[in-house]
Amino acid sequence: MSTFNRASEDGIGRGERAFLVLPDRSDGALRSVEARLDEAEGLAGAIGIDVVGRRAFRIRQPRPATLFGKGQVEEIGKLAEDSGAKLLIVDASLSPVQQKSLEEQAKTKVIDRTGLILEIFGERAATAEGRLQVELAHLDYQAGRLVRSWTHLERQRGGFGFLGGPGETQIEADRRLIRDRMAKIRRELEQVRRTRGLHRDRRQRAPWPIIALVGYTNAGKSTLFNRMTRADVLAEDLLFATLDPTMRQVKIPGFDKAILSDTVGFVSNLPTELVAAFRATLEEVSSANLILHVRDIAHPDSDAQKADVEAVLGSLGMDEEGAPPRLEVWNKIDLLGDDDRAAMLNEAERREDVVAISAAEGSGIDGLQQEIALRLRGDALVHHLRVGTGDGGRLAWLHSRGEVLDSRVEGDFIAVDVRLSPENWTRYQSL
Ligand code: GTP
Repeated sequence: MSTFNRASEDGIGRGERAFLVLPDRSDGALRSVEARLDEAEGLAGAIGIDVVGRRAFRIRQPRPATLFGKGQVEEIGKLAEDSGAKLLIVDASLSPVQQKSLEEQAKTKVIDRTGLILEIFGERAATAEGRLQVELAHLDYQAGRLVRSWTHLERQRGGFGFLGGPGETQIEADRRLIRDRMAKIRRELEQVRRTRGLHRDRRQRAPWPIIALVGYTNAGKSTLFNRMTRADVLAEDLLFATLDPTMRQVKIPGFDKAILSDTVGFVSNLPTELVAAFRATLEEVSSANLILHVRDIAHPDSDAQKADVEAVLGSLGMDEEGAPPRLEVWNKIDLLGDDDRAAMLNEAERREDVVAISAAEGSGIDGLQQEIALRLRGDALVHHLRVGTGDGGRLAWLHSRGEVLDSRVEGDFIAVDVRLSPENWTRYQSL
């Protein structure tokens, strides 16, 4: 893929100094300008870009060529220069023409919101399917740009592009390359979906449950993931690590093993062309045994974020019968004032589907693990079994796969009360 470099290969990378601008269209956007700037800054931070300054600009009449007004573009160029920024982040979708003119007039490299999110997906896509979907979205993004500059060229020449010339031939060749590459990726995607089906089957047959973390970007998923799995990194993890680095073993009371799986964070106003790539990174969630929805409960947009996450989960069929149960994790309670925190803790206490925690400070984690255990046990039943006293293997199996509640010696037998998942019960019967 040498012709179509990802932006990071064009020089956008960790530690890059960037100036962030937000075109504020005053179109009654629900979220405040500050919150939107914060989110964009967080997105940039997620791929290690150093935002050295930021500013919102009111857009009354978007200019087709540059989006911003003439004076604004000059000011933006100056702001970027004064702050030593080598990159301008525009928190909006720019047309290719706009991006190019802005680069020329503000004299810096420009990346728009779609490009930024693509970078994040590119870095985070953990599964083969996720990576392919991201690459597909990226090529599509670039193809759109080529097509448009092609039309632009055609129009300039007043013809249909049959005039030849090096520019057109190059664009035509690039378009064909992109098309071929996209076709190849679609074929690979088919292949990956087939194999992924196999992996998923294997996982569903695995005796340990999968817990998936979902939530908005910056909600604290990774912090919680690390806190819950830190102590339990074992060699067996390699099995999953090779499949997917965002899956790790976690200790849940009453279970010999469980797997915690992290996912790419949600962002507000996801550009539509990225929806498929984002969903691909979330598809794993549907094969989980439990979904933990991590929320930044101290965030001013917390409720809107929740609605957004639920809508997407719903569109993935997570509201249907047989979908994994869900638990809401109210994170960052340490950031709340005393009164608010008390109220939140109180409400979480009353509600069955909510646990309040601070992933950063580690409070509430024990309670969360208890709740997880309770959910996972859901359909597990207590069985009253009699096992021969000499049958140590069978007893050990029950202890490792189930939750032994009681065991008593009765003559030559040991009577065991044990809670087993339906899968393990089936397995036990065929031992
Ligand atoms: P993405 O990877 O972008 O999806 O974000 P994430 O949901 O994984 O969030 P992450 O764990 O990276 O946390 C985002 C920021 O919130 C980091 O600066 C964390 O240190 C901070 N954070 C996470 N949990 C807590 C918490 O309980 N309290 C406080 N005060 N900060 C937290």
